[in-house]
Amino acid sequence: MGTYPNACVAADHHLASEAGAEILRQGGNAVDAAVATSFALSVVRPYSCGLGGGGFMVIHLKQHPRLGEVTTAINYRETGPGAVKPDSFEQDPDPDAATHGGKAVCVPGTVAGLLYALEKYGTMNRAAVLAPAIRLAEAGFHADQHYIDSTHLDDLVIPWFRKDPVRPRRFAFMWTRYLKGGEVAAGDRIHVPEQAEALRLIARHGRDGFYKGPVARSMVDAVQRDGGFLTLDDLAGYAVREVEPLRASFRGSTILTMPPPSSGGIVLAQVFGMLEAREADLRAYQREGGPHGANAIHLVTEASKHAFADRARWMGDPAFVDVPLGRLLDPAYLRAKAAMIDPARTLPHEAYGAASWSKDDAGTSHFCVVDAHGGAVSCTETVNLIFGSMLVAEPFGFVLNDEMDDFLTRRGKANAFGLSHADRNRPQPGKRPLSSMTPTMVLDAGEAGRFGEVRMLAGGAGGPRIISGTLQAILNVQVWGMNAGEALAAPRFHHQWEPDRLDLEPALSGSPVKAALERVGHAVGARKAIGNVQIVVRHGERWQAASDPRKGGRPDGY
Ligand code: GLY
Repeated sequence: MGTYPNACVAADHHLASEAGAEILRQGGNAVDAAVATSFALSVVRPYSCGLGGGGFMVIHLKQHPRLGEVTTAINYRETGPGAVKPDSFEQDPDPDAATHGGKAVCVPGTVAGLLYALEKYGTMNRAAVLAPAIRLAEAGFHADQHYIDSTHLDDLVIPWFRKDPVRPRRFAFMWTRYLKGGEVAAGDRIHVPEQAEALRLIARHGRDGFYKGPVARSMVDAVQRDGGFLTLDDLAGYAVREVEPLRASFRGSTILTMPPPSSGGIVLAQVFGMLEAREADLRAYQREGGPHGANAIHLVTEASKHAFADRARWMGDPAFVDVPLGRLLDPAYLRAKAAMIDPARTLPHEAYGAASWSKDDAGTSHFCVVDAHGGAVSCTETVNLIFGSMLVAEPFGFVLNDEMDDFLTRRGKANAFGLSHADRNRPQPGKRPLSSMTPTMVLDAGEAGRFGEVRMLAGGAGGPRIISGTLQAILNVQVWGMNAGEALAAPRFHHQWEPDRLDLEPALSGSPVKAALERVGHAVGARKAIGNVQIVVRHGERWQAASDPRKGGRPDGY
């Protein structure tokens, strides 16, 4: 954790925080710094997010020089390519078609989204905000422990490559440059100066430097050679969507978060609504048991199960399907759900909702920025799973997403996170897959319908565990009174309704709390890390910024 009097950035890599803070020191606003942080992350967290991915950005500026107060959200989630069909994956003999290789790649939105945000809400020019990322790409960086752990996770990266001798040839750039033939070790220099050339083209030509010309052709070639859908028309047609943030409230604060196709914002708002309806219980647990007592964990878990069940059934891209936001966020509905929560037991599985789904994900990155003028950005970006599709746009060296797997690609089959979805989340051209990314702000209640001051920013990585991590970081500060560093170091728990399992981090699963949770009916599992969260918290006249110790980032500011 760092404490700063003026402005700061909390990203999940110290070089990205430093890139954003450099822009803040030059007088840039939160959007300028966010854009610089994101482009830097593309270089130093290539397995989490980057040019070939997508994301969501929630912006709140107190005093933009031209626009005054700005409160908005930018949706630059990847879209289904023009040739994809709802059933494109049903008969595919390759069980990994939606996660590895060309067919997994959706139309990237990050560059369009960042440039849109910069042009409309930033104050600096492209060359200035891209300069730190270009320097990092030219210099390279050293793989940290999180990089190494991510490449050995489950069956996704190096273990997956070793299973089939064709794979190192099929994904040769990934295998040789990012994974060093499967021998990458902590401290190794990862040097992909080719990405600097793509970044320079973006600095020079803007959106056209990426969505047209040699960079566009490199993406299409990589994807089509590997049997995927992406075309030059898909790239040229990519459209950013600007939307109103989803608004909710909790204990007198205003919450601004991401609407669909994020599921995270709705789930967060639902859980806050249910917890407000159980305020008496929450206060009792504040006096007795605390945040890691079985009672508090049970209450938050049960509320989360109700919300995750609604996620599975109702959520998708609102440009294609009707997401009944009004009903899902209706206070009466949330009070009724809250009333169902029994402190003494869990409910039968079906009592929570009507559809289904788990797996750890480092393939996402969240950062928070506050500027010296009270402006803020909360931004989450992803290439989906670690190193996305494993395809790299050559010769430019950036990773292409595998966001296709966030759609329901095979009926009756869960995706890589163990998440099942309803038909409303089938792939379609132009459609955005349902996401768990939850970039969030907590503001003081403002007067006369106006927004108050920023109190806290939060968001994370980790697939569905993004939502639990973000929720618990906010509760740790707002309810349990922790500082920013304590709020992230605290152990976490996660339940996503399906599978019916309450995962505890080690500090909880080795404690008497586990037995108490089993007694009220939870099937308890263990997980080393639940999400990777970054937060900024207002503390008097200063900002506390913290990067999750689980990913090893470090904030910066002044
Ligand atoms: N790709 C992870 C998410 O958007 O939920």
